[in-house]
Amino acid sequence: MKKLKVTVRRTRESDLFECWQMIARTMNDLFRRSGKKPFKFTATSADPTMMHFRKVDPEASYVALNAKGAIVGFTQALIRGNEWYLAYLFIDPQYQSTGVGKKLLKLAMDYGRKNGEITRWALSTFAYNPQALAIYSKMGMTPQIALLVMTREWKGEKKPASIKPKVRLTMQVVTTHKLINRLTKLDIKVRGTARPEEHFFWTGDEKHRLLAFYDDKTLVGYSVVATTSRIGPIAAAKPEYLSSILAMSVNYGLEIGQARQLVFVNGENVEVVQSLLQSGFHIEEATVVMASERFSDSSRYVPGHLAHY
Ligand SMILES: CC(C)(COP(=O)(O)OP(=O)(O)OC[C@H]1O[C@@H](n2cnc3c(N)ncnc32)[C@H](O)[C@@H]1OP(=O)(O)O)[C@@H](O)C(=O)NCCC(=O)NCCS
Repeated sequence: MKKLKVTVRRTRESDLFECWQMIARTMNDLFRRSGKKPFKFTATSADPTMMHFRKVDPEASYVALNAKGAIVGFTQALIRGNEWYLAYLFIDPQYQSTGVGKKLLKLAMDYGRKNGEITRWALSTFAYNPQALAIYSKMGMTPQIALLVMTREWKGEKKPASIKPKVRLTMQVVTTHKLINRLTKLDIKVRGTARPEEHFFWTGDEKHRLLAFYDDKTLVGYSVVATTSRIGPIAAAKPEYLSSILAMSVNYGLEIGQARQLVFVNGENVEVVQSLLQSGFHIEEATVVMASERFSDSSRYVPGHLAHY
């Protein structure tokens, strides 16, 4: 293994745009090597979700710098209850396979070992990157569930029709913090851990909408719809509500002007995968959830994205 000199330090907020650029460069390198189409990086500032994660878990955020001070590695982990989740681990292509990834991953996992009684270690990653599968499996997190990336777009064509929900529910955009205690209880039931920090973030961020769903007067779930393209996470109190909450969230995305729609769906959730396929979504790729134990109930949950299950 060739050794290239890097120094490692905690991430500063001012690093995050450069981290984002390095992530895009690294992803596109992986996409090219895997025969996939690279994407166009258009961001001009740091990603608000990355800023939020660093703010909540600053001790689990590290960058690796080369001799010129450029960022060539970045990691960020999150601790929520007894769960440690790796949001990001990216090493610049020129510095891969030189031990930098292992070094950053160890620091992020040390943070988990020192802070809290972690019983579940997890992340989601690219199923077609054997290097990623190896590094995490060695640390005790092995592939668990296929996570399908499902998208639909209608460039210049007629906007798709809305999807009819199976169960008639009412929906409310959450704009205050009043409901967050109740959403936290739902998260504990469905995901096994609470994450009020993210609910505060979604209600306060202009690019996200947090939606609460009711069957008559009973709260039965929530979803997050990003103004750009993403739908999820979605949590439902009972499996029979999940596809209806998803349908209403997809419809809401159309209403607020999403021009492309993107959902990360657990492959084992047959009903949700099929209803999205019937509504014009395509399976863009299969990624994978890796974990130290079986986690979250796919029949009641649709994850947010790779960085945030
Ligand atoms: C996956 C990634 C984070 C690994 O970091 P890295 O710095 O390249 O890896 P390291 O040199 O620290 O090696 C760690 C382990 O990965 C595996 N590995 C490294 N290079 C490899 C290669 N060329 N082929 C196969 N496995 C390899 C080995 O198991 C290695 O452990 P070992 O040294 O005990 O044998 C990095 O390659 C990367 O950013 N890849 C592209 C983006 C990505 O997939 N990120 C993960 C998203 S969550």
